Amino acid sequence: MSEAAEDPRKRFLDIFEDPAAVARYADGPRQFVPGVEALHKMAAILIAERAPADAKVLVLGAGGGMELKALADAHPGWSFVGVDPAAEMLRLTERTLGDDMARTELVRGYVEQAHAGPFDAAVCLLTLHFLDEAERRATVSEIRRRLRPEAPFVTAHNTLPLRTEARSRALHRYAQYGVASGADPDKTEHYRTGIDQSPSMLPAELDEDIFRSEGFSGVELFYAGFSWRGWVCYAGPIS
Ligand SMILES: C[S@@+](CC[C@H](N)C(=O)[O-])C[C@H]1O[C@@H](n2cnc3c(N)ncnc32)[C@H](O)[C@@H]1O
Repeated sequence: MSEAAEDPRKRFLDIFEDPAAVARYADGPRQFVPGVEALHKMAAILIAERAPADAKVLVLGAGGGMELKALADAHPGWSFVGVDPAAEMLRLTERTLGDDMARTELVRGYVEQAHAGPFDAAVCLLTLHFLDEAERRATVSEIRRRLRPEAPFVTAHNTLPLRTEARSRALHRYAQYGVASGADPDKTEHYRTGIDQSPSMLPAELDEDIFRSEGFSGVELFYAGFSWRGWVCYAGPIS
């Protein structure tokens, strides 16, 4: 039995452990995620609404370090624990962060390997769409367990409607946005097919249900770019 078959969480990891693919990693979010830099800025603002100047922030799926770098630049007093199962992506995180590694701890693994906190905030960008419903529920629950009461959780990822017509429209727009942003058309078609067949592409309504049922409240959509969605929500009940 292959490693991927033994652990379904490893099924998408090959690409994030491939040094050549990781060297080009930053092109992907820039070409496929509308306004990805704005997403990082909004994440910093949403966290700062409720977190202290010396906040400890949990970043899940921290590979590449793009959001870590943006958060570190925006808030010199924050420190970070970045968690990711892919060693090659974590090496890129170190290079992206440079001097900001002094206030960042990187953990190779999944959310369970992050220490218990409590953290003042958590962020998980462009990652939860790799997790099927059961994995996503378990992961969101583990994030919740590591947060102080009322701490913000900011997350954004790709979604797909269930209805056939809306689904093919969303996939078409995803691909058109990539090509319009300079992505290779053949590669884009390969990604589009992969997303269509992925068991972990879920409708946005299910995400909102997962956040609420795994202990978050005040769930608010703050970002939508074609099929991409971003939410902020808060650990436990909020006053
Ligand atoms: C598309 S990248 C996003 C990286 C970064 N958050 C960003 O926005 O640029 C997805 C990352 O999630 C990581 N990943 C995959 N499965 C994961 C899981 N179950 N828990 C945490 N990270 C995971 C991958 O290794 C990869 O580094």
